[in-house]
Amino acid sequence: MCGIVGYIGHREAYPIVIKGLKRLEYRGYDSAGIMLFDKEGDLKISKTKGKVADLEEKSKEIISAATIGMGHTRWATHGVPNDVNSHPHLSNSGNLAIIHNGIIENYEPLKKELIKRGYTFTSDTDTEVLVNLIEDVKKKDNLKLGKAVQVALNQVVGAYAICVFDREKPDEIVVARLGSPLAIGVGKDEFFIASDASPFIEYTSNAIYLEDEEMAVVRLHKPLKIRKIKDDSLVDPYIQELKMNLEQIEKGGYEHFMLKEIYEQPNVIKDTYRGRLHANEGIIQMAGVEDNLEKFLNADRILIVACGTSWHAGLVAEYVFEEFTRIPVEVEYASEFRYRNPIISSKDVVVAISQSGETADTLAAIKLAKEKGAFVFGVCNVVGSSISRETHAGAYTHAGPEIGVASTKAFTTQITVLTMIALRLSKAKGTLSNSDYFRYLQELEIIPEKVQEALMTNEHAKEIAEKFKNSTNCLYLGRGYNFPVALEGALKLKEISYIHAEGYPAAEMKHGPIALIDEQMPVIVIAPKQGHYDKVVSNIQEIKSRSGKIIAIVTKGDTQVKELSDHIIEIPETSDALSPLITTIPLQLLSYHIAVLRGCNVDQPRNLAKSVTVE
Ligand code: G6P
Repeated sequence: MCGIVGYIGHREAYPIVIKGLKRLEYRGYDSAGIMLFDKEGDLKISKTKGKVADLEEKSKEIISAATIGMGHTRWATHGVPNDVNSHPHLSNSGNLAIIHNGIIENYEPLKKELIKRGYTFTSDTDTEVLVNLIEDVKKKDNLKLGKAVQVALNQVVGAYAICVFDREKPDEIVVARLGSPLAIGVGKDEFFIASDASPFIEYTSNAIYLEDEEMAVVRLHKPLKIRKIKDDSLVDPYIQELKMNLEQIEKGGYEHFMLKEIYEQPNVIKDTYRGRLHANEGIIQMAGVEDNLEKFLNADRILIVACGTSWHAGLVAEYVFEEFTRIPVEVEYASEFRYRNPIISSKDVVVAISQSGETADTLAAIKLAKEKGAFVFGVCNVVGSSISRETHAGAYTHAGPEIGVASTKAFTTQITVLTMIALRLSKAKGTLSNSDYFRYLQELEIIPEKVQEALMTNEHAKEIAEKFKNSTNCLYLGRGYNFPVALEGALKLKEISYIHAEGYPAAEMKHGPIALIDEQMPVIVIAPKQGHYDKVVSNIQEIKSRSGKIIAIVTKGDTQVKELSDHIIEIPETSDALSPLITTIPLQLLSYHIAVLRGCNVDQPRNLAKSVTVE
């Protein structure tokens, strides 16, 4: 969380930093700040509570032709979002400026020590402690900035991606990373620094991703030197060529990123299986799985760890894996798993699912599973992310950048990857009949067309949204493969519209939630023809007899549920196991329209962030 941007080179820094911050705003957006250092030696800072657009307004008076700058968009951890707590923070002398993404866990004892030594603090942040610690170390031993940062970081417990600037050494920015991502864009006589590559994609396609516990002094006209923070050893910089393009990170005519990403699903699902799924030949080929086939086949169980929407994809995968492969599966919240001394052995395969590949809890769960000897397989979207590097092997989802905070295309592409893995294993184990295996491959191949058809429900979803936009509560029900979809539907609604929503297995309704049902309560029931249709119909009857308002997601041509429901949304038919890829589409659209009609900020819902790099 928090986005950081830095620039040092020959261009004007201000527009680069502001545009970069806008692209990183998905990471946090409760306050923002910018620092510029111009040729006259003036260091100017502007910061404000609010969004980058507010910062742009406020920073007009500091705009200059400065060619060095740093900016920050914040997701508050220590200290409420206000102007003072926003970054950059200055050291007491006013010479050092810092921007920071992460948490300094031992900031309190460090702060006390610094106060004893005469330092004063204006903000409530851990970051202001860090910049003063660097200053203190620098002064005490008369160190260069890079060395001082290194010594200070060795006293720090926590997570960070930082940029530090010293007005006495204005041709360099010192950067370091532990637990929070940091990329350096390498141009001709210029460097870009950012939490991900999106701020510099139009300037250079050469990027270096710092690894944990690495730092670099980014100095003009000098080759970049990367060092290990702990032992000072030099690391060879690995320059990666970026495949991302500008179009992928822009809205492309859509009003919101979320809508664009919902509509991208037919194409990105194709991208996910392209070159991996050969339906006619009955082949599924994924390098990470092929190379480790024995590990999967010999697994006593598959343990899935993830957070948020990725956890919901994991729940869908539990049903798919057990049905197709007969390997027992457990799905855990990474945040719980990491702290409960779980029983794991080398006979377990742990599958970690993460769109960003940076989620702190998932990363910690992976490290724990590795320590206990498990083989860890990652399903990530962001190429080169921490989780993709920390896992033994993996498969990317290839969904392209997901910018809307509410995850959509990441969910369906995660399910696509996980279904392909399950099918590959079923073939090796012989747990599916040949005809079922071929049928699933063929169905998966035409899923993008069905997703496209499901997207045609958009206008109808909007009409229904109009009717329910003022609801205060909502219940989502589904069974089997569509129980996790009910959870995901409820999550989408609450995160972007702030309407309280619960997802439940339909049959569990009678054990509690049924008490909530009255004529005010919209109940969204996922009731496709395949699966436990008759049972779900009975559940719908129970809702109807208590006057609940029923919105049902049904297979095209359905009559039984239609008669019982207030509204139906029709989707194309597919097999039960693949149905989450289709049923989820109208739920995404419904949440989107309700949120828009309520005037909510769909792409940047309050209090949330896309990439959660704190625990
Ligand atoms: C945040 C995001 C969610 C996401 C979750 C897990 O809460 O807002 O959309 O599902 O983190 O993120 P990951 O990147 O690990 O999938």
